[in-house]
Amino acid sequence: MDRVVFDASAIQKAVNAIGVRISADYRGKNPLLVGILRGAYMFLSDLSRALTIPHTVDFMAVSSYGSGTSTSGIVRIESDLRINVEGRHVVIVEDVVDTGLTLSQLKKTLEARHPLSVKFCVLLDKPTRRKVPLVPDYTGLTAPDAFLVGYGLDYLEYFRGIPYIFSIKPELVQSEPASR
Ligand code: IMP
Repeated sequence: MDRVVFDASAIQKAVNAIGVRISADYRGKNPLLVGILRGAYMFLSDLSRALTIPHTVDFMAVSSYGSGTSTSGIVRIESDLRINVEGRHVVIVEDVVDTGLTLSQLKKTLEARHPLSVKFCVLLDKPTRRKVPLVPDYTGLTAPDAFLVGYGLDYLEYFRGIPYIFSIKPELVQSEPASR
């Protein structure tokens, strides 16, 4: 471990604040929250409990070619939604937006299915790393340019269950197939 970047109470405060905003913005709209597996599972679970409005939840698993710590933007759908997004207000729930390539690609894919709207909700934003212009509609925490794990985020599939977010030393981050 390098250092704790966000402790559990900072995370819960950020998630609850997003919950308040989404509950206000989507009142009467029955939004569909789309969690991107696997990194967003813990965030979506807490966010769903923070919402005070009716909503539905579904998941997509995607993979992208690239190294263990970055993405190429070529997104492949490994497991698709079960709920039809046509005519729905969709909120894509993602763990981290880094280059922005994954989310911009996903938005195109979902928009082709004729939803009423598509918005982005991310727990962590790394704005300095962007390769495509993308500003999330809901951001929990602005993150440093470091490789972060915990609270759903993994390094080689480990550390997802840790209730806080910490950085790992760059020299320990080696090239491996990208995982989510
Ligand atoms: P983007 O397409 O570069 O925005 O990639 C976003 C995806 O890269 C996230 O959904 C994560 O799967 C992964 N990712 C980016 N930064 C981190 C990190 O610090 N820890 C764990 N996964 C990350």
